[in-house]
Amino acid sequence: MRRNLVVGNWKMHGSSASIDQLLCGLQQQLTTVCSEQVDIAVCPPAVFISQVSKQLAGSIVACGAQNASDQQEGAYTGEVSATMLAELGCQYVIVGHSERRSLYAESDAGIAAKFIAVQSQGLTPILCVGESLIQREAGETLTLIEQQIKAVVDVAGIDAMARAVIAYEPIWAIGTGKTASPEQAQQVHAHIRQVLAADDPAVAEGIQLLYGGSVKANNAAELFGQQDIDGALVGGASLKAEDFTAICLAAIN
Ligand code: PGA
Repeated sequence: MRRNLVVGNWKMHGSSASIDQLLCGLQQQLTTVCSEQVDIAVCPPAVFISQVSKQLAGSIVACGAQNASDQQEGAYTGEVSATMLAELGCQYVIVGHSERRSLYAESDAGIAAKFIAVQSQGLTPILCVGESLIQREAGETLTLIEQQIKAVVDVAGIDAMARAVIAYEPIWAIGTGKTASPEQAQQVHAHIRQVLAADDPAVAEGIQLLYGGSVKANNAAELFGQQDIDGALVGGASLKAEDFTAICLAAIN
């Protein structure tokens, strides 16, 4: 049976003081969660990773990053490498979030390169895929998701997916308060598993598939109840200890 994974994506929010407070709240409230039952991680802004990683040492919550360079070292002003993230204690890196695809023009090819760079340092990429409302209404969702996944599998190989997580995040559901219905999400998750199964059924069966897009304490359980949903990538609700804890508790299986 696959374990559920809940990942908080803090985006560009927080200060050293507010993060300290959030982590204290999480550590207090998550004491009831047994690490045997659910995987949990938070992805702070890069400048706070060192602080968060130290504060989380020895806890059941892992630290991740929101992005990484496709290069490991060199003259790349403003970039942060997977080597550096590994040194700071990160275990996960979000790759290809829709905000990076749309606001920073990240391409499928560039995302595949980042995915490989992250894995080369022993970190687990959380590959984000998802369609816009226009694409959904045009009936292109499943084809697009397949393309986004194949762009990585073609370069990294299907075996690499055994050391990765995929997050399905419909763009129209991110930060909008509109969640995909459990049935809509399940349909796409099942399709992702089918696409992977064509190359390797064992990899398809083992991979954790997260749903992301306005996951809240009051809709998490229903989403996690779907057969192919193995947790969530949580934005807004991960900034409040109480809300994030409630989502983690709903993910215990
Ligand atoms: P949201 O963000 O939970 O605020 O919709 C999800 C994400 O962007 O990962």
